[in-house]
Amino acid sequence: MKLFIDTADIAEIREAMSLGLLDGVTTNPTLVAMTGRPMRDVLAEICDLVDGPVSGEVLSVNFDEMMEEAHDLAAIAPNIVVKLPLIADGLRAVKELTSEGIRTNVTLCFSPIQAMLAAKAGATYISPFVGRLDDVGHDGMDTVAQIVEIYNNYDFETEVLVASVRSPTHVLEALRLGADVATIPLKVIHQLIKHPLTDVGLQRFIADAAKIPKAKR
Ligand code: E4P
Repeated sequence: MKLFIDTADIAEIREAMSLGLLDGVTTNPTLVAMTGRPMRDVLAEICDLVDGPVSGEVLSVNFDEMMEEAHDLAAIAPNIVVKLPLIADGLRAVKELTSEGIRTNVTLCFSPIQAMLAAKAGATYISPFVGRLDDVGHDGMDTVAQIVEIYNNYDFETEVLVASVRSPTHVLEALRLGADVATIPLKVIHQLIKHPLTDVGLQRFIADAAKIPKAKR
């Protein structure tokens, strides 16, 4: 499974890259707004830094404007993936962009049926938001399970990108379901690494290592 970071913060991306395990980046308008910088500048800097796919989202909600924005975004760098909302005009735009060879990420997906429509439109990625589903009392990972099942049943090539990840448990379940990608905030990336028994065990090894006699030379 590929690991993306879900942020528009350059320092966070650099930190995740330093682990050597980062496959790509997803952003959204909220994350870009938090940087206080223009969208194009932020995306261009991220694309320079990262080799893998970088999702940049359109801000319009009608077909013509989405297409114009998508072309502007795609011109930033070859690794841009145009992110579009799962609405009727968004699906139309995905179909058109796919026919032009532009990669797309369909965002704000909350049901397996929506995911099927995105796949039929030719989306490169579908982004089910598991944390936001959990927040309203649904089971986000069950939605992912149904999407994976449907995509396997019909050999859809769209990759399942698990989004709105809030905990290592979401990542574990995504792995067990065979999702293609998880996009993860930096805080959760750190949580993936940590285990209290690793810390306790390491402290003991360090303490015991100090007791090992030095070799005579
Ligand atoms: C995905 O691409 C979105 O940027 C993101 O995962 C949304 O997560 P949130 O629900 O934590 O805002």
